[in-house]
Amino acid sequence: MSAVATRTLLELDDVSVEYALRDRVVRAVDGVSLSLAPGETLGIAGESGSGKSTLANAILQILKPPAQLAGGRVLFEGRDLAAMKPDELRRFRWRHVSLVFQSAMDVLNPVMRVGDQFVDMLKAHEKVKKADALQRAGDLFELVGIDRNRVRAYPHQLSGGMRQRVVIAMALALRPELIVLDEPTTALDVVVQREILQELQQLKDELGFAVIFITHDLSLLVEFSERIAIMYAGEVIELASGETLFRDPRHPYTVGLMRSFPPLTGPLERIAGIPGSPPDMAAPPSGCRFNPRCPHCDPTDARLYARQTDERPRLREIAPGHLVACHLVEERP
Ligand SMILES: Nc1ncnc2c1ncn2[C@@H]1O[C@H](COP(=O)(O)OP(=O)(O)OP(=O)(O)O)[C@@H](O)[C@H]1O
Ligand code: SF4
Ligand SMILES: [Mg+2]
Repeated sequence: MSAVATRTLLELDDVSVEYALRDRVVRAVDGVSLSLAPGETLGIAGESGSGKSTLANAILQILKPPAQLAGGRVLFEGRDLAAMKPDELRRFRWRHVSLVFQSAMDVLNPVMRVGDQFVDMLKAHEKVKKADALQRAGDLFELVGIDRNRVRAYPHQLSGGMRQRVVIAMALALRPELIVLDEPTTALDVVVQREILQELQQLKDELGFAVIFITHDLSLLVEFSERIAIMYAGEVIELASGETLFRDPRHPYTVGLMRSFPPLTGPLERIAGIPGSPPDMAAPPSGCRFNPRCPHCDPTDARLYARQTDERPRLREIAPGHLVACHLVEERP
């Protein structure tokens, strides 16, 4: 990793988020601690329902009831975001952190030219003349690979890939230090996804923003992230560089995930699934949440089994920069 890793842009300190439903409480994110350096790309992966979007919403402080921050702190350049007043937070978003949603393309208003939507967003944040704002929109369109004349287009006149680029251009408009991309490209085909991510990587190198990139597609993460956090049932269970995770995944869940996606090169023989399904988050298993699905959870190994089913494993550093939450890895490194 580069020298920038010594400074911290974003720090999540033991963050928990709950959905308080009428008959039960779902703790969708449970004690997540992560930090991000300026300019770094952190990938977050995990099965559907593991809490990735909930965590992204906690970072942006856009949790809405029934979701609420149930514990921990989100610090951006040392400032506690939960302590900010609503109008302060509104100014903070887009300018310092922007989010490209899972269904980002749907945020565009279908009856408004994309350039005008851009102008509205800029005007909400700074005093700017319409002509100047349109000029900036055109510049940003070019930056993300769209002809500047397309500011006059309506969303339906653009392809899916172009609409996605428009949303990314808007996210970049106020030069935020951090962009959170939550499955930004799932609606697009793989070739377009990779193309957009490659462009984003180039822009990141030019403009220096940090990225949190959330996806199911581990192969994209391995390609584009410096570090990857693997989430399972609301927890980060492994954290390491993309290269380390690819070469030496240690948590049994990560090992299963790595087997579940086709290799970047070579034959497709690595594809396998993880048997079973994620737990009900209203009543997760005690001890290690992965224990009902784990191939290494064996009652005949009584002492280890007791820990696996009783004691929650904590993230521990097993090698520089490689953290794993697993009793087996802890006992038999
Ligand atoms: N609006 C909601 N009301 C109640 N529970 C919710 C709500 N949204 C999410 N959850 C709970 O929070 C958990 C995490 O959901 P989240 O959307 O953060 O997962 P995710 O990892 O982003 O999944 P996906 O990969 O499908 O986008 C879910 O398993 C679900 O139990
Ligand atoms: S703690 Fe045990 S049950 Fe949990 S992942 Fe590790 S080996 Fe499997
Ligand atoms: Mg999600």
